[in-house]
Order: sequence, then C-alpha cells, then structure tokens
Amino acid sequence: MKILGIETSCDETAAAVVADGHRMLSNVVSSSLDLHTAYGGVVPEIAARSHIEVITPVIEQALVDAEIGWEDIDAIAVTQGPGLVGSLLIGVLTARTLAIAKNKPLIPVNHVLAHTYANFITSTSLPGYSLSPGTPRFPALGLIVSGGHSQLMLYKSNKDYNILGQTRDDAVGEAFDKVAKILGLPYPGGPSVDKAAAKGDPKAIKLPKAKLDNPYDFSFSGLKTAVLRAAQQLAGKDYTFPSHELPAILTDRQKHDLAASFQQTAIDTLAEAVVKAEIEFSPGSILLAGGVAANQSLRSELADRLKVPLLCPDIKLCTDNAAMIGAAAYFMEAPPTDPFKLEVIPSL
Ligand code: KG4
Ligand code: ZN
Repeated sequence: MKILGIETSCDETAAAVVADGHRMLSNVVSSSLDLHTAYGGVVPEIAARSHIEVITPVIEQALVDAEIGWEDIDAIAVTQGPGLVGSLLIGVLTARTLAIAKNKPLIPVNHVLAHTYANFITSTSLPGYSLSPGTPRFPALGLIVSGGHSQLMLYKSNKDYNILGQTRDDAVGEAFDKVAKILGLPYPGGPSVDKAAAKGDPKAIKLPKAKLDNPYDFSFSGLKTAVLRAAQQLAGKDYTFPSHELPAILTDRQKHDLAASFQQTAIDTLAEAVVKAEIEFSPGSILLAGGVAANQSLRSELADRLKVPLLCPDIKLCTDNAAMIGAAAYFMEAPPTDPFKLEVIPSL
C-alpha cells in the first residue's frame, strides 16, 4: 500500500511516498526557514504564503522521486494538527482537493504522534539516509521533543496509547531557541546551542531542574529564566538588565559554558523521566522523535542510561517531514474521512 503524505503544520512544506508504512520511496521537504531567520522565529503569515507557493511542486516532486504516478497511490494522508492554522489549512485543503480530484481515500494524521513513526521507516533506496536497523517493539515508550512539544508517550500498540507526561509550559526545543536568543546565537536555536555547548563545560553553571507532581511531566520555562539570570550575573549585571544587550557583553567562554550547562540540564531532565518510565513500564523499544532528537548529546546520554534499545530516526526524519505522516497513517490504521468535510485542528 502506497501512501502520499502531506505535511504543512509549521514552516516546512513536505510530501513523501511511503510503501507499507516502512519503505520510504520519496521525501521532499521545502523549508521557509530562511525567510523567518531575520525575525528570530516563524512568522505564521510568511509560512502560510510560502506553503501556497511551493506545495504543488513539492507534491509533484514526491511522485517523480518515487517514480510512480497517481494511479499507484492508494491513499493520501495529511497533518490535521496541531500546528499553525494558516499553515495547516494549505496542506489540508490541498489534500482534500487531491483526494476528490484523484478519487483517493483521505486520512487525517496527528503531527505529534506521527513524529514517533519516523522510527518505523526502516528501508529506502534514497541516498543519504541512515535508518534504524530494528523495527520498534511494543509496548514502546516515545519521547517526542520538538519546538512545539515535549511528550512522553506509552504505546501499547499502534492503536492503544496514552500520554504519560508533557510539558507544563515551554517545549524543550522552544527552550533551546530562547536560550540561543539570550546568548545571541543564530536561529534556529537548537543546532546553535548544540554547537556552542560542545565548546563549553556542562558543569560550569549550576541550573535548577523542575520538580513536578507527575514525574513524567516537564517544565522548561524556569530553566530558561535561570539561564537568563546566570547570564546577567556573569555579565556583572542585575536581573533588570535587558536580555538583548547580553550577547554583546558575554565572552565566548561564558556563552559556551551557559549553552553547555543548559543543554546538560535539559538532557538530564528528559533522561531521568525516560529512565523512570523504562523501569515502570518495561518497554520493548524506546523511540526518540522530533526536532530536538537531532541533538547528538541527547541521543548518546539516553543510549548510555537506558537498558532497552533506543531507536532514533535519521536526522532528516527528526525534523518535520511527510514520510512520518505516511508511516503513521499506515500503522495507526486511522479510518479515511470525508474529503468534503475535513477541518484543521490547530490545538489537536
Ligand atoms: O520537529 P521540529 O522540526 O518542529 C516542530 O514540530 O516543532 O522541531 C524543531 C525544533 C526547534 O526548536 C529546533 O531548535 C530544535 O528542534 N532542534 C534542536 C536541534 N536541531 C533542531 N534542538 C537541540 N539540538 C539540536 N541539534
Ligand atoms: Zn514537528
């Protein structure tokens, strides 16, 4: 069964063809990231306009790369939410139109759950991918860490899953992005902080870890504020000093140490929750997913601390893509929906 996946929840316009949920025939991603860099974050209107401009060629390219025609597509899967309303609308309206015009079943997919399914893509003939060798085993724990979400999921099967915990405030990727801003590092912040952290001492600055009633919930807003206070202190200023003036006074050494200490604390927080869940639920696999899963220190720290195999998608499948949408639609067996009625759900 060949599914065409379409993803437009944030700033990536993506289309991919996935066969039987695990074989990736194509994976096309066009990002409007460059257009947002000047603003230090995704501008919803710019993202939506960019989706309109590129979605048709992106879908056409996904079919060309997969070397198939419309007659070979068995279903269309599309991200229904969560995400930016204007961005989601372009993907959903395109998918609805195609489903009607080409007479294909239309399957709505939850973007956050779909991130985990990047780990189910185990084969491709596309060049430049290094895929997890093993197929995930249930029950599975899923740690989904991105710019919009930090969730720990327990999957008993593809259809039976629940959220063990999630962030009470900022997502971990959001915290990386905000810390990058405090340190004057370029957007997107995750990769910049990751790079700066490699040159710093993770023990240089002691930062707090949030303690919550549910041991599987996260909170990263206090950590981000603690980084700001530590930065002000290192710069010899008090808490009223404006954060946008800090990058000019902090030394490179101080920035590297702040980045390393922040990253280590964030990783420790995530790892402690996953280790606890591993003991409580005895999973067969642990699945890492989402943009922050691109962080090598997070991967190696988790792999070191866990007993069960940790599966990580190829870096290109960690950030937003449509192959995960095609894979999720196949395995989760979500029923097709009426293409005349499908609505976006930004807060899904
Ligand atoms: O999954 P994703 O592409 O989009 C969302 O659905 O949010 O995740 C993007 C997030 C951003 O916050 C970005 O800063 C973060 O993933 N990220 C990283 C790294 N690469 C991307 N965070 C930490 N380390 C990285 N190497
Ligand atoms: Zn995402």
